Amino acid sequence: MSDFVTIFEMGPRDGLQNETIFVETTDKIRLVDMLSDCGFRKIEAASFVSPKWVPQMADATEVMEGIYRHPAVIYTALTPNVKGYTAAKRASTDEVAVFGSASEGFCQKNINCSIDDSIERFKPLFDKAHNDGIPVRGYISCITDCPYDGPTSPETVARVAKMLFDLGCYEISLGDTIGAATPETLTLMLDAVLAELPAKYLAGHYHDTKGRALENIEISLDKGLRVFDASIGGLGGCPYAPGAKGNVATEAVASLMARKGYETGLDMDKLLAVAEFARSLRSAQT
Ligand code: HMG
Ligand code: MG
Repeated sequence: MSDFVTIFEMGPRDGLQNETIFVETTDKIRLVDMLSDCGFRKIEAASFVSPKWVPQMADATEVMEGIYRHPAVIYTALTPNVKGYTAAKRASTDEVAVFGSASEGFCQKNINCSIDDSIERFKPLFDKAHNDGIPVRGYISCITDCPYDGPTSPETVARVAKMLFDLGCYEISLGDTIGAATPETLTLMLDAVLAELPAKYLAGHYHDTKGRALENIEISLDKGLRVFDASIGGLGGCPYAPGAKGNVATEAVASLMARKGYETGLDMDKLLAVAEFARSLRSAQT
């Protein structure tokens, strides 16, 4: 099993999308530029979604066009449909991501359609991305619990993961959207998904609402996962998951990996400096 763990930086997207007061475009660009110097391979820099749904991400094009492109970094963005994909491509986004859910309630609230309809809606986006040679990642929200429907069945997560993989996602990121997964529910979910897809196609995306994200990452590592999404300074949440906190903090995941003997390629001193800047963006707004 590989000793390298990829930490996929989410701060500029998952981190900032939940801020109620608009973070200036120049600050978003500065955040991405600082992150680009830390050793990340992947940074989710923006979200090409409807500005009526998530006003904070309305400047996705300006952010993507304004950032410094470090040659070693892949800059990614969320794209829920062809409209978002087209704008992302125009702004030279390296990789895009679709986002579905394993619960019907969250799917409706977040992207305004059922699970099965979401898969249908993603199809034309995959056709275009495939033709353009742009990789597509897939997120599944509510992998163990949904703020609207309660507990999620592991079999549904496995079914959605397989559908997204079959559509062409190169990797499925498993989202504990409200940070409610326990070691027991996470293990049941991972076992169900791993029966469909090998660990090399999976990533963990754990919000830290109840402080269990690091424990859940350790469980996932033991199951063979080597990609974890994290947000600098622990920024974030989801506008359609009331009360949910940010992704687990990048610097906490990096230090856990160092303690466990995994390489991440990240510079801890630089990470801590960016975490301070990231938190200043939040506290300056609230
Ligand atoms: P809809 O209203 O059903 O879409 O929203 P529509 O196709 O009927 O379009 C309605 C309007 O939106 C139209 O404008 C479209 O042009 C526009 P109007 O004619 O009314 O002026 N529109 C767009 N504008 C810009 N970019 C676009 C776009 N698409 C349509 N891409 C839609 C459906 C999916 C668009 C909407 O529900 C949406 O944008 N949802 C995004 C919600 C979101 O961003 N949530 C947070 C990210 S997900 C997350 O955080 C979870 C994750 O982190 C994993 C985890 O933690 O679990 C990934
Ligand atoms: Mg998230």
